[in-house]
Amino acid sequence: MKRISLLTVASGIIVLAACTAEKPVEKKSLLLQHEDEITELISQMTLEEKVNMLHGKNMFSSAGVERLGIADMQYADGPFGIREEMEPHSWNSLGLTTDSATFYPTGSALAATWSEDLAYRYGVGMAKEARLRGKDMILGPAINIQRLPTGGRTYEYLSEDPLLSAALSVKYTLGAQDNGAAVCLKHYALNNQEDARGSVNVKVSQRAMREIYLPPFEAAVKEGDAYGVMAAYNKVEGDWCSENDMLLNRILRDEWGFRGIVISDWGGVHSTVKALQNGLNVEMPGSRYFGQALLDSVKSGAVSDSIIDIRVREILRVRLTVKPVPEAEANQVMTSQPEQQQIAYDIAKRSIVLLKNENKLLPIQAEKVKSIAVIGDNAVRTQALGGVGAGVKALYEVTPLAGITKQFEGSGITIKWAQGYAEYSKRDRESRVSPYTNADPKLMDEAVSLAKESDLVIFVGGNNREVETEGRDRNAITLPMGQDELLKALSAVNPNIVTVIVSGAPVDLRVVQETSPAILMSWFNGSEGGTALADVLSGEISPSGKLPFTLPIRLEDSPAYSLNVYPQEMPQRQGDIFTNLVNRRNAAQLGGPDAEYAEDIFVGYRWFDTKEVPVLYPFGHGLSYSYFNYLNLEVDMDDDNLVAEVKLRNTGKYDGEEVVQLYVRRPDSKIERPLQELKGFQRIHLQAGETGSVKIQVPMKHLRHWDEAAWDWQLEPGTVEIIVGSSSKDGRIQMETEI
Ligand code: BGC
Repeated sequence: MKRISLLTVASGIIVLAACTAEKPVEKKSLLLQHEDEITELISQMTLEEKVNMLHGKNMFSSAGVERLGIADMQYADGPFGIREEMEPHSWNSLGLTTDSATFYPTGSALAATWSEDLAYRYGVGMAKEARLRGKDMILGPAINIQRLPTGGRTYEYLSEDPLLSAALSVKYTLGAQDNGAAVCLKHYALNNQEDARGSVNVKVSQRAMREIYLPPFEAAVKEGDAYGVMAAYNKVEGDWCSENDMLLNRILRDEWGFRGIVISDWGGVHSTVKALQNGLNVEMPGSRYFGQALLDSVKSGAVSDSIIDIRVREILRVRLTVKPVPEAEANQVMTSQPEQQQIAYDIAKRSIVLLKNENKLLPIQAEKVKSIAVIGDNAVRTQALGGVGAGVKALYEVTPLAGITKQFEGSGITIKWAQGYAEYSKRDRESRVSPYTNADPKLMDEAVSLAKESDLVIFVGGNNREVETEGRDRNAITLPMGQDELLKALSAVNPNIVTVIVSGAPVDLRVVQETSPAILMSWFNGSEGGTALADVLSGEISPSGKLPFTLPIRLEDSPAYSLNVYPQEMPQRQGDIFTNLVNRRNAAQLGGPDAEYAEDIFVGYRWFDTKEVPVLYPFGHGLSYSYFNYLNLEVDMDDDNLVAEVKLRNTGKYDGEEVVQLYVRRPDSKIERPLQELKGFQRIHLQAGETGSVKIQVPMKHLRHWDEAAWDWQLEPGTVEIIVGSSSKDGRIQMETEI
């Protein structure tokens, strides 16, 4: 190992010679433990029994073979809580009394913790509740890159950055699978928009795919040994993901060594022979292509027996590795349990991002503040359910108002609530009423009167789960229902406004920025979201979340909008693929738009930094009530790894946590690259006055780029600048070295 420190670098650059790319180490998948037993089982199965395993049995199960003691596979949405039990063939609730689950903070909230430990515990919590419900496979984590600020599922996904997304995906996977439930990584791949998700054809360079969009999947497969993958609805380079030879056979299975099962997204299959051959194991939820049609194809010779056996073997590997829960043991106790509620709380506490805190308005000072006006529909709105698709029938959810009220009980502070702006409801969404309306004058007047007579305003706004939804992108990032207008009116009568943004995706904060001395992002933050928010507001804990995506000034500044490649012109108006069969056929027959990923590798901060486009709040930003001084940086390097040791001191008055971020720049690179890229991070807890250090390990292979001509990863020699700091725009210590 070669050690360089900040001081050494000042006097000269250290050259580490001949550093070659690391050869991927094949870790043996746990799925490979039963191969002989599987051969024996397959030899006893009839063709009908085999084909019966390759498609949905019920809405959330696929068949085993009872005669041979092979249990059915039980699936559960995912990704942020175990979904309630549904009738076998519909989306109607079964009405059980034991299936209320813990609602975990959604994807972007988890990512805002920048904590691998918490991602692991998230997986543990999901698996424990899945097992109580008799489930074998969680339909999650959802790990597509947040390409568009408006993407309907941004709240489910983790981050705009592949390294952060990958690190958390690996840990979620390990946490779940170490506790008996398989994961199903979704949606593989490039499901980055919801509009036309069932017909869009993604056109993307191999480099952008490898460097930006695939790493979370690749890492969860190679390092997490993920047992399941869900093929996305869209096409990639002309082929549906559920029958995409490049994605399923060549990359996932051959290159990454995936040994598990690929299931379709619900209704996302479009062929029999091609889908089976190109890598799909299970058609969900029906049997249109992998039922009688598949049997007929085998009988006619269009599909060989051997490929059927391969697909069945892959399913059996998962089936024999994940132990089935006996039916009599499932659903016997309430799904949501205190240990899991604690996990949800621990994540929520570390996810809240303090964007700004002028005049130290936060934490709330009980000596100065005697009355608080809590204003906003989101203060009383629960977010576990809503919109299309996955949601959680939560056992309970502490709303912001409930959390705040409880926190300040007995403190002598009066707390009053006014709705302020109208709810954007399910009916509004279904009838396609725009959420971007004027303020409701009556609600606004009431709120202004309350603000006038209060010492402090806590405005709880943002989106809700009807605004951000699966199946549809937003067409703006404006705050819905006239919130900007309301904020202007509130600030005219009371300048002490703390704005709390409840959303899972970027919103336009220009008016918030003008009107609010303090701003918090508090996400769709799970069962304990309101408790965690109140802890931060009161100063019981210091905020420590960091943005997992950039907050642009204007939507038009973001890459795909700026290059005019999104939204695409639709060949014709299409309903969402998920909603009904007609839409599915339309998607297949009429075709969809092409999504040109013209920004290439310049996604998120890679775009803003490189093109010098100003942002409102940068990727990785998040303040604390405390202050962290970065004291020293030392770097050790060998052929395989670069290890940075960063020393810092909490110089403030509060105990707190900091997320140390490491970015790399390649100033003399011959290759087109982003200005900088995140290559490592580490969270550290420091008491007031305490000094500590973190070690951040950067595998050399993470410094490689994808070389299109060589069709492989390459490590370019040259200067490497290492910048360590508190956000992508707040580098504190910098040094350089050579590789
Ligand atoms: C979603 C998946 C989900 C499935 C089953 C689909 O519409 O895209 O994420 O797991 O439905 O609910």
